[in-house]
Amino acid sequence: MTAKPAPIEIDIHELIAGRWSPRAFSDKPIERAQLHRLLEAARWAPSSNNLQPWRFIAFDRHRDEAAFKRVFDTLAPSNQKWNVNVPLFICVTALTLTPKGEANRTAA
Ligand SMILES: Cc1cc2nc3c(=O)[nH]c(=O)nc-3n(C[C@H](O)[C@H](O)[C@H](O)COP(=O)(O)O)c2cc1C
Repeated sequence: MTAKPAPIEIDIHELIAGRWSPRAFSDKPIERAQLHRLLEAARWAPSSNNLQPWRFIAFDRHRDEAAFKRVFDTLAPSNQKWNVNVPLFICVTALTLTPKGEANRTAA
């Protein structure tokens, strides 16, 4: 991964100063164990009332090209340009109702 530190004005944590949004990706396949690890990390994010409304759907180009393409086609053309090589999309969705059937205002 390329280092691209932000030009910070005062000292902040390196995880924040060092983060940036890449616009180019390798086409190298993502290993199942690596994907599993990513999702394990994601599911430990905090949520309102600990409802954990997120659901993740992975689209692996090397497993199901047609499904992957359907997701790719939903991207704006400007985003398709820099996502053209990616091996995997993870769509993040959310349950908008609580287990009691009420609206979860923080789901999004
Ligand atoms: C809600 C949100 C939506 C964004 N949508 C796009 C997008 O559609 N295309 C894109 O190239 N970048 C998108 N970005 C990335 C921002 O443009 C980027 O975070 C900003 O330029 C700062 O750059 P950095 O993340 O590398 O520090 C989005 C960022 C956020 C927070």
